[in-house]
Amino acid sequence: APSLTYPSIKVGNVAKIEVGKPAYFNYPDNRSQAVLVKLGREALGGVGKDRDLVAFSASCTHMGCGVQYKDGRFVCPCHQSMFDPAKNGQVYQGLASEWLPQIPLRVEPNGDVVATAVEGLIWGRVKNV
Ligand code: FES
Repeated sequence: APSLTYPSIKVGNVAKIEVGKPAYFNYPDNRSQAVLVKLGREALGGVGKDRDLVAFSASCTHMGCGVQYKDGRFVCPCHQSMFDPAKNGQVYQGLASEWLPQIPLRVEPNGDVVATAVEGLIWGRVKNV
């Protein structure tokens, strides 16, 4: 299989990100929305000093509606699928069968948080990049 080349894009800075306040961005390009959140508890794949910063595709894996962060989870407003941001985007309720694709992050020495890839196929796409 061809190797995928993802862009490295700054999505925030650890000094400015508040617990429980999601920040939306586009990744890996303008066709797909993604979301960054500081959970306030350690997460699988989490970065930062508390290992609680994570990012995911914001497109629900059922039919592509935009998921919303609420009470520590991602909820799809269309058919109420729910995804766990602390467990790599595992779907645990609703019609979606695939996990929400996680976006691995890296923290630079100056605190910048950088998106580096997508793990899993973004809904509606035949390839991510
Ligand atoms: Fe998200 Fe159906 S589009 S549950």
